[in-house]
Amino acid sequence: MYLVDIIAGARPNFMKIAPIIHAIKNSKSERSMLSYRLIHTGQHYDKKMSRDFFDQLSIPRPDLNLEVGSGSQAEQSGAMMIGYEKAIINKRPDMCLVVGDVTSTMACAITAQKLKVPVAHVEAGIRSGDWEMPEEINRRVTDAITNWFFTTSEVANKNLINAGVNEDRIFFVGNTMIDTLLANLDRIVPPVFWGDLKLKSLNYFVATLHRPSNVDKVDQLELLLKTIAKAADKALVVFPVHPRVKKSIELIEIPRNICLVDPQPYLQFIYLVKNAKGVITDSGGITEETTVMGVPCLTLRHTTERPETVIIGTNELIGTNPKAISAAMEKVIAGEWKRGGIPPMWDGQTAKRIVNQLRAILIN
Ligand code: UD1
Repeated sequence: MYLVDIIAGARPNFMKIAPIIHAIKNSKSERSMLSYRLIHTGQHYDKKMSRDFFDQLSIPRPDLNLEVGSGSQAEQSGAMMIGYEKAIINKRPDMCLVVGDVTSTMACAITAQKLKVPVAHVEAGIRSGDWEMPEEINRRVTDAITNWFFTTSEVANKNLINAGVNEDRIFFVGNTMIDTLLANLDRIVPPVFWGDLKLKSLNYFVATLHRPSNVDKVDQLELLLKTIAKAADKALVVFPVHPRVKKSIELIEIPRNICLVDPQPYLQFIYLVKNAKGVITDSGGITEETTVMGVPCLTLRHTTERPETVIIGTNELIGTNPKAISAAMEKVIAGEWKRGGIPPMWDGQTAKRIVNQLRAILIN
């Protein structure tokens, strides 16, 4: 039996690991020779940022929680590395599987590789070219020390090949976040405030902002919210507030049609997005989900590591200029947004491909 450590730490990791764990469990009956140990770094620890996702997506309780909590990037990375090193020494896995681009991804990949445990990276090869974002550094560092690369797009494959990665180590498998989306679309449910806010399909927008460049400066956040509120043209804008935004938001006068709500559990959040007129965001993962659901998506950033959501999907890079935001929202309201298609391999079967490949790698 081969042991794979699966690392998860922050909210966007949980939808990515869920289908991989389910695929390993399902393949056990086929004598898959694979077992896993789930390690939660504790980067996200609030119930609403972590536990709710485990419950809704039937992710088993972690075998180990490193409980690193909040801190600077260095504090978090250091604590994760110390904790995970102990876990490896205590019980050595045959492989370490990391997903996405958060601090937990990078810190655990480094720790494993230093102890000569091979690293597999799911969502490898994506690049925004924006060094201001900690995620871009995490992606590059992780891919520099990864052995096996599982990718979501042709662009990611090219990025890796251009960086000198041997093609034999790249597996274009699709998107595990979309596995989770497709597996749960018939389970989505309205959030508790749906009736109270008189929300109806297509009568509101959803906004999510949490990137340091958009939310850490109060003036910038205030300008963005005012612009969005005005351009929504009396429609409600539902804004689930990420914990890092709370402090700034308390210092701002919130426009009347912006409705602040808690971070939503997965099934409620997807319901909200699926039925929205449009989504305004600085997230990367949400642009993938809106693409698959065909919901107009305005990204308030200048770059994306997921160009297929713009080229094929419903996403557009709007930046943060108020005039550009207003013009794009007008287009959505007028029903003139592009329709978009679905990127290749985003078919709900990605985790199975990953698990089959992992088994082949480990057995050989
Ligand atoms: C992290 C990821 C980002 C991802 C985001 C999604 C990195 C570098 N960034 O950013 O890519 O899009 O998660 O949510 O890994 N906090 C809480 N409770 C929690 C978690 C965080 O209150 O459960 C607060 C803390 O004050 C913390 C701050 O939020 O300092 C930021 O959390 P952190 O994990 O450092 O980064 P995120 O901004 O959440």
